[in-house]
Amino acid sequence: MRVLVTGGAGFLGSNVVDALDARGDLVVALDDLSTGERGNLAPDIAFRQVDVSDEHALERAVHGEGFDAVVHCAAKTKVVESMEKPDLYRRVIVDGTRNVTRLAERVHAQILVNISTGGAMYGETKSCANEHAKADPDSNYGRFKLEAEGIVADADVPFWGAGALGDRSPCTDRAPPSVTTST
Ligand SMILES: NC(=O)c1ccc[n+]([C@@H]2O[C@H](COP(=O)([O-])OP(=O)(O)OC[C@H]3O[C@@H](n4cnc5c(N)ncnc54)[C@H](O)[C@@H]3O)[C@@H](O)[C@H]2O)c1
Repeated sequence: MRVLVTGGAGFLGSNVVDALDARGDLVVALDDLSTGERGNLAPDIAFRQVDVSDEHALERAVHGEGFDAVVHCAAKTKVVESMEKPDLYRRVIVDGTRNVTRLAERVHAQILVNISTGGAMYGETKSCANEHAKADPDSNYGRFKLEAEGIVADADVPFWGAGALGDRSPCTDRAPPSVTTST
């Protein structure tokens, strides 16, 4: 398969890229390198530096290319920062997801995988929330992730949404970008 991975230079995205590459998929990683690093990717991985919230730049970056699957990992990920910079977070998470979704529709991708959020979707809960808990985000990060899930759900492309990621421990020696209130 030919797979586009947004946020491909980040913690989660680079591990997705590695896994796809290891099984023989042709991977294109896309990232604005705002928190990710090119060094997280093997040198032979095709890479495009672009901001997913810039629709025209995104289209130019992959112009004429087809993708069987799109894995959308690009996002700003800090809960506290999302309260301080709501415009940035809305632009990257909501507008960025809309642009990536439109791209997946345009290339007739067979699947769009949207990495959403686990806990931030549910706010403070009395007991541990699972996927069936009512979404009640109390941060901009959670609110924008919920809005982005709606965009993906309404899209004309088969999708799979990863919201509640159970195991958050690093699965490689690459540390998560921050140990503060991430996701
Ligand atoms: N790490 C976790 O525990 C966890 C849990 C739940 C959900 N998530 C979600 O998984 C995804 C990846 O998170 P992560 O932990 O790997 O964080 P990360 O910061 O390592 O990865 C995000 C990547 O997106 C890139 N990016 C940011 N804004 C961009 C933009 N405008 N255009 C293009 N690229 C952009 C960053 O440079 C970075 O490489 C995010 O959507 C996050 O919300 C992560």
